[in-house]
Amino acid sequence: MRLLLSKNKSFLIKDLTKDYHTQFGFIKKEDLKKSKVKTNKGIEFSIIKPQFIDLYKKIKRAPQIIPRKDIGLIIAETGIGKTSKVLDSGSGSGALAIMLANIVKTVTTYEIREDHLNVVKHNIKFLNLKNIKPHLKNIYEGITEKNLDLIVLDLPEPWLAVKHTIKALKPGAFIVNYSPTVPQIMDFMTEVNKYKELSHHLTTEIIQRDWEFEDRKVRPKSQMMGHSGFLTIIRKI
Ligand SMILES: C[S@@+](CC[C@H](N)C(=O)[O-])C[C@H]1O[C@@H](n2cnc3c(N)ncnc32)[C@H](O)[C@@H]1O
Repeated sequence: MRLLLSKNKSFLIKDLTKDYHTQFGFIKKEDLKKSKVKTNKGIEFSIIKPQFIDLYKKIKRAPQIIPRKDIGLIIAETGIGKTSKVLDSGSGSGALAIMLANIVKTVTTYEIREDHLNVVKHNIKFLNLKNIKPHLKNIYEGITEKNLDLIVLDLPEPWLAVKHTIKALKPGAFIVNYSPTVPQIMDFMTEVNKYKELSHHLTTEIIQRDWEFEDRKVRPKSQMMGHSGFLTIIRKI
């Protein structure tokens, strides 16, 4: 695969045996091996080997994914890194699992729907990641893994998973719950508060406001992502 990069646009080229067509003109297949090319309309592109983030942005989507702004907070608040073992459920499209697998030691991911799990497997293969284990499994029935550093819950009824997390986590490890609505975080916290081993660390939401730069028109974009989800971080004590 190759990535075509210009100032304003990028294109992922999966098939290098055919000419590549864009709205800026086409590039002959012989030229796809070069590092700089011009389309037949004279628009210049660099050609690079796609990096993790270029492929990540092109993963298949089934259910709604956790946005990158929220994944950033999960990483920064829990401090997970190259020795960490993480469990994620439900896998959904695998977006969170894939981003975490790029920085931690292992990710296990549980998904109840086979059609969603097939999308996850497709995405893992697309990024050629070897440290994610996808399972067709209902997390409300239990967690097999032990000594985990982090469990992330992105589920309709996350409170049903709480009782299983305690034995699966190391002391000092974290649960991050991601829920779009207030009643979900209320029911989740009611369940968390039943366990002396679990302490509330933070509930927050991240609002990201992107800006545009066009000559002297430097200002926030009119369109922004509204609400995505609330992040609740719990620590096993
Ligand atoms: C919003 S999606 C998760 C998206 C995912 N975090 C991502 O970034 O791609 C929620 C997923 O949880 C799955 N799910 C629902 N209940 C579950 C359960 N009890 N055990 C495992 N997965 C479950 C759903 O099928 C759905 O795919």
